[in-house]
Amino acid sequence: MKLHITILPGDGVGPEVTGEAVRVLRTVLDLYGYDASFEEHPIGGVAIRQFGVPLPEATVRACMNSQAVLLGAVGGPEFDSLPAGQKPESGLLALRQALGGYANLRPAIAYGAIAECSPVRPEIIKGTDILIVRELLGGIYFGEPRGISDGPVSAAHNTMRYSVPEIERVARVAFYQAQKRHRKVTSVDKANVLETSQLWRQTVARVGGDYPEVKLEHVYVDACAMRLITHPGSFDVIVTENLFGDILSDEVAVISGSLGMLASATIGGKVDLYEPVHGSAPDIAGRGVANPLGAIASAAMLLRHSAGLEQGARDIEDAIREVLDAGHRTADLSPQHSNSGRAGDSQRGRAKRVVSTAEMGALVESAVGDVTDRRRAYHAV
Ligand code: IPM
Ligand code: MN
Repeated sequence: MKLHITILPGDGVGPEVTGEAVRVLRTVLDLYGYDASFEEHPIGGVAIRQFGVPLPEATVRACMNSQAVLLGAVGGPEFDSLPAGQKPESGLLALRQALGGYANLRPAIAYGAIAECSPVRPEIIKGTDILIVRELLGGIYFGEPRGISDGPVSAAHNTMRYSVPEIERVARVAFYQAQKRHRKVTSVDKANVLETSQLWRQTVARVGGDYPEVKLEHVYVDACAMRLITHPGSFDVIVTENLFGDILSDEVAVISGSLGMLASATIGGKVDLYEPVHGSAPDIAGRGVANPLGAIASAAMLLRHSAGLEQGARDIEDAIREVLDAGHRTADLSPQHSNSGRAGDSQRGRAKRVVSTAEMGALVESAVGDVTDRRRAYHAV
């Protein structure tokens, strides 16, 4: 099978983390005998500097002609003063629209080995495995009219809008994912205040009728924000609109121990898009200290959803777990960064070793080899 993948490294730590993701991806595709080609294109701030626009046409064309797109991050402080439509972030939003993926899957796992990286007590986060399904093409991010009006008093406005088909299609993705997991969907809205949320709730409930084996609950977004910290283990799949999903997916990073751990896949459109949840982190860019695991886990999702290579995806996920179990940590997971104040935590288990972005990538790559060798040896007996 031939796979053509477009890489959009973007800004800040984007090039560093995507570099490691591509390294791991190449290794796994090789192992499974896949023929893959990679092509890099600019997006975000680098594209603004080179071409004056955050999303050059050639980038869109290359993405549309590939089977999957792997993106690093966009944005940087030097672009803060640009008008909204010209910022690096607007390039990403335009790309999402062009690719057409409306369901953004954001898994959050609490790995036992890095439980101490979360400020939440280990007994609370233990075993947490949540999939946030964020609607990605609608709501207040794209609703019209929007703008800033100059009058005697300046004012700004945005529009939150959802149609029934937009809600139905993302709800189906959530129920489908739940069928493969623990068969529970939590639909998050603000139906006590917003009409869009009332329509959201009704529509999700109706779609849920087609999935009787999946348990459905409705929770207000404010209550959900709290329950994610107090009882994260009570969630399986969360489905929610664009802005709520953006906010809640950063919140669950607290459970995973670092935003650098989180991966995402955007599916349902013409070409699927894979990107870590974290941003461009300009403060640490270029220093080789960023955590590439979110980007590497996004590459695993690419294998699962765009290459039909479930086993390869699992190999990467197992490799990530092994590397963490062995005590390897990027700076964001290191004792100085994490909540190591809890007595004894940092002493427990294996010694921790702080590694660079590239070392972490190499460790995962070699662990993938170990994982697959072991599986082959096991099947050979
Ligand atoms: C994310 C980011 C983006 C978003 C920004 C960079 C436009 O925060 O992917 O979560 O808000 O969707
Ligand atoms: Mn975000």
